[in-house]
Amino acid sequence: MAKMEVKTSLLDDMIGVGDMVLLEPLNEDSFINNLKKRFDHNEVYTYIGSVVISINPYRSLPIYTPEKVEEYRNRNFYELSPHIFALSDEAYRSLRDQDKDQCILITGESGAGKTEASKLVMSYVAAVCGKGAEVNQVKEQLLQSNPVLEAFGNAKTVRNDNSSRFGKYMDIEFDFKGDPLGGVISNYLLEKSRVVKQPRGERNFHIFYQILSGASEDFLCKLKLERDFSRYNYLGLDSAKVNGVDDAANFRTVRNAMQIVGFMDHETQSVFEVVAAVLKLGNIEFKPESRVNGLDESKIKDKNELKEICELTGIDQSVLERAFSFRTVEAKQEKVSTTLNVAQAYYARDALAKNLYSRLFSWLVTRINESIKAQTKVRKKVMGVLDIYGFEIFEDNSFEQFIINYCNEKLQQIFIELTLKEEQEEYIREGIEWTHIEYFNNAIICDLIENNQTGILAMLDEECLRPGTVTDDTFLEKLNQICATHQHFESRMSKCSRFLNDTSLPHSCFRIQHYAGKVMYQVEGFVDKNNDLLYRDLSQAMWKASHSLIKALFPEGNPAKINLKRPLTAGSQFKASVATLMKNLQTKNPNYIRCIKPNDKKAAHIFNDALVCHQIRYLGLLENVRVRRAGYAFRQAYEPCLERYKMLCKQTWPHWRGPARAGVEVLFNELEIPEEEFSFGRSKIFIRNPRTLFKLEDLRKQRLEDLATLIEKIYRGWKCRTRFLLMKKSQIVIASWYRRYAQQKKYQKIKSSAIIVQSYIRGWKARKLLRELKHQKRCNEAATIIAAYWHGTQARRELKRLKEEARRKHAVAVIWAYWLGLKVRREYRKFFRANAGRKIYEFTLQRLMQKYFLEMKNKMPSLSPIDKNWPARPYLFLDSTHKELKRIFHLWRCKKYRDQFTDQQKLIYEEKLEASELFKDKKALYPASVGQPFQGAYLEISKNPKYKKLKDAVDEKIIIAEVVNKINRANGKATSRIFLLTKNNVLLADQKSGNIKSEVPLGDVTKVSMSSQNDGFFAVHLKEGSEAAGKGDFLLSSDHLIEMATKLYRTTLSQTKQKLNIEISDEFLVQFRQDKVCVKFIQGSQKNGNIPTCKRKNNRLLEVAVP
Ligand SMILES: Nc1ncnc2c1ncn2[C@@H]1O[C@H](COP(=O)(O)OP(=O)(O)O)[C@@H](O)[C@H]1O
Ligand SMILES: [Mg+2]
Repeated sequence: MAKMEVKTSLLDDMIGVGDMVLLEPLNEDSFINNLKKRFDHNEVYTYIGSVVISINPYRSLPIYTPEKVEEYRNRNFYELSPHIFALSDEAYRSLRDQDKDQCILITGESGAGKTEASKLVMSYVAAVCGKGAEVNQVKEQLLQSNPVLEAFGNAKTVRNDNSSRFGKYMDIEFDFKGDPLGGVISNYLLEKSRVVKQPRGERNFHIFYQILSGASEDFLCKLKLERDFSRYNYLGLDSAKVNGVDDAANFRTVRNAMQIVGFMDHETQSVFEVVAAVLKLGNIEFKPESRVNGLDESKIKDKNELKEICELTGIDQSVLERAFSFRTVEAKQEKVSTTLNVAQAYYARDALAKNLYSRLFSWLVTRINESIKAQTKVRKKVMGVLDIYGFEIFEDNSFEQFIINYCNEKLQQIFIELTLKEEQEEYIREGIEWTHIEYFNNAIICDLIENNQTGILAMLDEECLRPGTVTDDTFLEKLNQICATHQHFESRMSKCSRFLNDTSLPHSCFRIQHYAGKVMYQVEGFVDKNNDLLYRDLSQAMWKASHSLIKALFPEGNPAKINLKRPLTAGSQFKASVATLMKNLQTKNPNYIRCIKPNDKKAAHIFNDALVCHQIRYLGLLENVRVRRAGYAFRQAYEPCLERYKMLCKQTWPHWRGPARAGVEVLFNELEIPEEEFSFGRSKIFIRNPRTLFKLEDLRKQRLEDLATLIEKIYRGWKCRTRFLLMKKSQIVIASWYRRYAQQKKYQKIKSSAIIVQSYIRGWKARKLLRELKHQKRCNEAATIIAAYWHGTQARRELKRLKEEARRKHAVAVIWAYWLGLKVRREYRKFFRANAGRKIYEFTLQRLMQKYFLEMKNKMPSLSPIDKNWPARPYLFLDSTHKELKRIFHLWRCKKYRDQFTDQQKLIYEEKLEASELFKDKKALYPASVGQPFQGAYLEISKNPKYKKLKDAVDEKIIIAEVVNKINRANGKATSRIFLLTKNNVLLADQKSGNIKSEVPLGDVTKVSMSSQNDGFFAVHLKEGSEAAGKGDFLLSSDHLIEMATKLYRTTLSQTKQKLNIEISDEFLVQFRQDKVCVKFIQGSQKNGNIPTCKRKNNRLLEVAVP
């Protein structure tokens, strides 16, 4: 919202008063209160007429943005809230459009924000002036000169972390279009004593710390420096690091800025070499040495540092060493050399360091000027910016403060002069009568200081030049004599006895009543500082350096240009430069920025009344206001004035047709403002007292409120009316719609009621009709039922009658048939009995037989001999035929089956048949063997190489080759043996080796015994007395007992033509050598599975348990 409102005057939304000229009543308290009120509301700028008072906010405020720049650009000074930009804009436009050279004077004490203000001015001007590559380069160079000068000329002090230790005046030059062309910088009073000594809590110039922190190792090495701050006597250690300051980064910024400004690499290098030399000078130390003639003499303690300095600067070491030990005074072709004692040597060293540094600084300024100098000869417009120390009032004020305060005294003078001159000029311009204004003119104080005969500076110079012993005290004595009667000079010892008893004034001090307050100066050091002596030997030594920059810094060291005249004292040098500056400023239109420090803590939001009061006093701000208010406090052109207040009078509101001045006259008459309160100028109205202005403002505010109320009233009325009309219109629309809706609803209701009534009536009618119809239907049905019953009764009667009639007819027919049958049978009885019975019987029999065979043909079973199927017998009388037919058919199909056999198959079946004959129903093992084909050679001896020997030994055809168990007669245990049956022999061989154990010709086998049970044990009995019988009979067991016994039987039969005796018994005797042992088979338990076990019971009994 705040952004939206457009300000047209400083007076809008003012906090306190934006312009102190309008302050009422005007006194110190109200002044401070106004500042404080504004400061608390973030308004750090306040005007005194065209002077800007700036209070350091110590924090960044959002009032320096590019948008703000745009806001202030091309606006009138009093249009917006006070701002540095308004002042800059005014100055710049006045320079550009009215061809008036400008200067902007920024004063205030250290830390009050002068340097920041000067930068803001420069950046504003840079932002609003012309653009383009060339212009931008100039701007950039001008802006970048700041970091360079700040690095070398600024230091951390207790008041300000970035305090400028020199005064700076910069002329920015513009062409006729207002584009920057270049600039010239002047520097004043570098605080060079800081090089050798810094107060507690302060630092040396930034550049020393920046080099040591930021330079590369390589570069430091070149400069013969070490990174450690503590190595250097000149660097105050207690605050070497500053919070929030990055020295290393700043070093890079400085180098970069130097490059932009146009320093050549070798120049930059030289500059840093000088800085390094200064730093190293501080490390040179001296020790006392007594000479024979009793004079004190000093000697350099450690020459290493000296040597390095000489290497850096290209000075002959012996020359420099000598310069530190002797002092040559030349007077009228005479040279007198005296030795330096230790204190003098230190003095010389420090003087050299200070001189070297301050000359380097001046050289830098000159060098920068060379770069930023305008390149054209065309006439230039100039804007000067002065950033110089404000008034300084310390506990101990010395020569420096004296000089600075002198400078401020001069500035105040031109302020008064120019302000009054401007006022006066304006009055003349506006045709207003000039009345004399009472104000304090400080010319008298300036005179006290700068008067060529009786001025303090002149006397100081005189003292410095006077032969004989000169001390600060002799200087004070002189002052006491000469200035005693001056109104603004105070001293205890002055001839004027006024201060004899003033204990606040020590004897070694004098006090000056500056326009801004009283300041007491310690006289100590005045003479020395004014002399600013550098022994000639040192400047000559410097001149002899091969380092071109150093050489150039000490031109007075050139013996060819030796000048016996003493160089100008610091005081007169400064006086001269201040005079030049004043002359320069006087030709320009001044703009003032007065900076104020709100507190000593560098802290935001703190406003220390006492501190501000002090500054207001010495800046002479109240004095400012008074001067400004001397004639008329406020003035304004007629147009804006009329525009602002026209609502206060009927004639001018809302429009005044006529010249603005006449309008204002009418307005003021109407308001009955006393005549002495205002004057009509040519283009402006002048108002004497702020009271009057505020009265106008109050009236305006009141009127604005009334107007606002009026506008509000009308607006509200209009709004209500329009709203009412709108509502009325809406109401009609709504009502019409509602009516329509209601009628529709009613109609719908009637319609639905009608439908309901209608439906009821229809229903009633329908029901009535239905009832009638139903009744009718029931009547019809009743009639039909009655008719049906009637017809039924009729029909049943008729049926009954017809049935009766039919029964009678049937009975007649049966009786008739019986009667006829009886008659026929009686006739044919004799004939039928003789033949017909037999014939029918035969015929029937024949037909049945025929049918039986024809059916059998279709029911024949398969040709498989084992197929047991046979059709059932159809007739009992064919029972025997049927059985016979079954037998014949079976025989026939068996023959058919047999006819298919080959010879081999025949042989197999013969064997099987043999087995059947031998064992069927005799041995329980037999049925299991029927399905197993007889293979004979289970062991394929010829194929197994292991049995090659066995094979070779048996050359006959092998019928059986099988592994059997031979039962050991001693214990009944079994041993595996190969059982071979050939055509003529039975052989037993070792299973592993194949060696033949026994061979028995078939003829010697008499009997084979076995049990009737399901076991494979069998005994082979041998003929008594035969060769084989020596070892006794064999008791064996085999899985193929049936086959082996059968084959043995058949082979024996075919070889010996005798039937082998096969005994099947569960107990038989076996001949073992001499003994006969009984082998008995019993029913055993199943514990060993299905395998029979054999056990020797005693000598005579071997028991085989068969499961
Ligand atoms: N307008 C400002 N806005 C914010 N901070 C400021 C402003 N002016 C000054 N300062 C702060 O105050 C410090 C001191 O200002 P500086 O201009 O160096 O003082 P001076 O030059 O008067 O000694 C700055 O470093 C900055 O931190
Ligand atoms: Mg500064």
